[in-house]
Amino acid sequence: MTDQAPTAYAGPERVLSGVQPTGDLHLGNYLGALVKFARLQHEIDTFIFVADLHAITAWQEPSKLKHQVREIAAAYLATGLDPKVATIFAQSAVPEHAELAWVFNCVARLGWLDRMTQFKDKAGKHKERESVGLYTYPVLQAADILAYKATKVPVGEDQRQHLELTRDIAQKFNNDFNAPGFFPLPDALTQGPGARIMSLRDGTAKMSKSDPSDNSRINLTDDADAIAQKVRKARTDPEPLPETMEGLADRAEARNLVGIYAALAGVTEARVLAEFAGQGFGAFKPKLADLAVSVMGPIGGEMRRLLADPAEIDRILTDGAQRARALAAPTVAEVKKLVGFWAG
Ligand code: TYM
Repeated sequence: MTDQAPTAYAGPERVLSGVQPTGDLHLGNYLGALVKFARLQHEIDTFIFVADLHAITAWQEPSKLKHQVREIAAAYLATGLDPKVATIFAQSAVPEHAELAWVFNCVARLGWLDRMTQFKDKAGKHKERESVGLYTYPVLQAADILAYKATKVPVGEDQRQHLELTRDIAQKFNNDFNAPGFFPLPDALTQGPGARIMSLRDGTAKMSKSDPSDNSRINLTDDADAIAQKVRKARTDPEPLPETMEGLADRAEARNLVGIYAALAGVTEARVLAEFAGQGFGAFKPKLADLAVSVMGPIGGEMRRLLADPAEIDRILTDGAQRARALAAPTVAEVKKLVGFWAG
């Protein structure tokens, strides 16, 4: 290696992201992640997987897991991912993820993982009862991303800290193994009003698959009536909408609904306020319900249609896994050489 060796990653741009098959997908997953996947696939080489290795960090019923994976794959397809354009696969079908995660477990420091807020949120007071996998979960996420040398990771705001950890792992690996620029330092793509969608019942809590109240979220599989009813029942306040975003500073529920409208319509929040300033929720909610039904309504129907033919979904996932492996395997083989493994 010469003194002139490049220190920055010089490879191609690549998009990668994934979703866990652990329950019904909701509006937050759609606006924070899925809608961006469909858009990005036409701009950059895109890899989107179903994170079934991550799913088993909490108990999953073995007889149901495969179906859960197909459901997420169906959601990808129903929201516009094209398997001829993007590579769609199941994480467990590409063993390089787990292999690289082991090496990264030995690169990442305990202090780094101790700072992960999502582990603290999920484990609560009884962390000693959680799986070891839940603790090292973000290390596997770094492996997912770096096995493909991905540079852009479209995710919701809640994944930002995991992306920072991924960058730290990439940097330390490059330094430790004297391989400047081997791994890129990937960016989280979290821009836009959909990055943090809140519960419809509580504007201070994230919309989440695990919220016990189904009225707190709009599921991708909800029909038009359910969507409209959930919007109608969403918690709000009696004030009219203000003219600027500053006017929403202390109105978490109102801000959330304006953000949802903006993200669904593909416009800025300022545009939404310009249209609705001075109007109350009695006028705004029916408009939001119509918009949500028109965007989300067809997705559930399309998912059901796709799931009626699981063999076709499996064919897409099998083909995707082959394409994914063809990219990940040489990277992991290089990692093994750099680490000095006997089998490297
Ligand atoms: P998961 O399955 O919890 O969520 C999938 C995606 O949805 C986003 N999201 C939200 N966005 C906006 N508002 C919300 N209320 C909301 N809730 C969820 C998440 O940010 C995510 O983008 N660890 C990941 C899966 C994963 C992954 C990866 C992602 C595993 N390996 C590699 C990217 C790259 C997760 O649990 O997402």
